[in-house]
Amino acid sequence: MHEPVEPVVAVVVAAGSGTRLGGETPKALRVVAGRSLVARSVDQLAAGGCTAAVVVVAAGTEDAFAAALADAPIPCLLTLGGAERQDSVRHGLDAVRAEPALAGCRVVLVHDAARAFVPADVVTRVIDAVRGGSVAVVPVVPVVDTVRALAGATSAVVDRSALRAVQTPQGFDLATLAAAHARLAADGVVVTDDAAACEHAGHPVTLVAGSRRSLKVTEPLDLVFAEALARQA
Ligand code: CTP
Ligand code: MG
Repeated sequence: MHEPVEPVVAVVVAAGSGTRLGGETPKALRVVAGRSLVARSVDQLAAGGCTAAVVVVAAGTEDAFAAALADAPIPCLLTLGGAERQDSVRHGLDAVRAEPALAGCRVVLVHDAARAFVPADVVTRVIDAVRGGSVAVVPVVPVVDTVRALAGATSAVVDRSALRAVQTPQGFDLATLAAAHARLAADGVVVTDDAAACEHAGHPVTLVAGSRRSLKVTEPLDLVFAEALARQA
C-alpha cells in the first residue's frame, strides 16, 4: 500500500510593484512565451512536488491573477500582500493557517513569483531536505563574478569561493517559519529572505544546490533571458 502523499504548500509572493522592470502590468502577470510568470512559477512548484499554493497579490489585481491561474495544475488560493516582501510572506502564512485544507501542512515553501523558471528538481531537493528534518532550507549557487567589498574610499576583492547567491523556493517547517515571521514583526527587524527570518529566531539554515536557470526576473534585460529559457524548456 502507498503512503498518502504529505501535502506541501507553496506561498508564492507576487504583490511587489515591479519598479525595476517597469511597465503597466504587475511583474508576475507579465507573459513570457505565452504564459505568465506566476503561472510558470506554480507549474514548476507543482512539478517539483507542491500540492497547493497560496499566491500573495496586490489589492485590485485579484481578478487578473485568478484568470492567470485558472489552469494551474494545483489549487491556488489568493490573498493580499503588504508593504514589504516579508509582510507579504507573513500574510501568505496567515492564509495557509486560516485555510482548513492547508493548516495541517508541515512543509511550506516560499517562492518569488518572479523566479518563474526554477527547475522542478530544485523544488524537490528543497522539499526533501525539510522532510529530512531541516527547518530552513535555501537553494544557492556559486557566485560567478569577482566581487569587491567597499570600505570607505577603498575596496577589496572578497574571496568568492566562500560566497553563495541565494534563490527561492526556500523550504521550512510551517510552525517554525510562522513563529519566526511573528518575531520579526514584533522586533521591527527587516530581512531580505525567509531563511534570514529563521536565523533571527536562532534556527540553523541548510543549503542545497540551486540552479543558474532559476533567474529572478528583475530588470528588462532579464526578460530576454526568460524568453530564451521558456523556449528551451
Ligand atoms: N513582493 C511581494 N510584496 C512586496 C514586495 C515584493 O509579494 N511588498 C514579491 C514580488 O512580487 C516578487 C518577490 O517578492 O515576486 C521578489 O521581489 P522583487 O523581485 O524585488 O519584486 P518587486 O518588489 O515587485 O520589484 P521591485 O523591487 O523592482 O519593485
Ligand atoms: Mg522588490
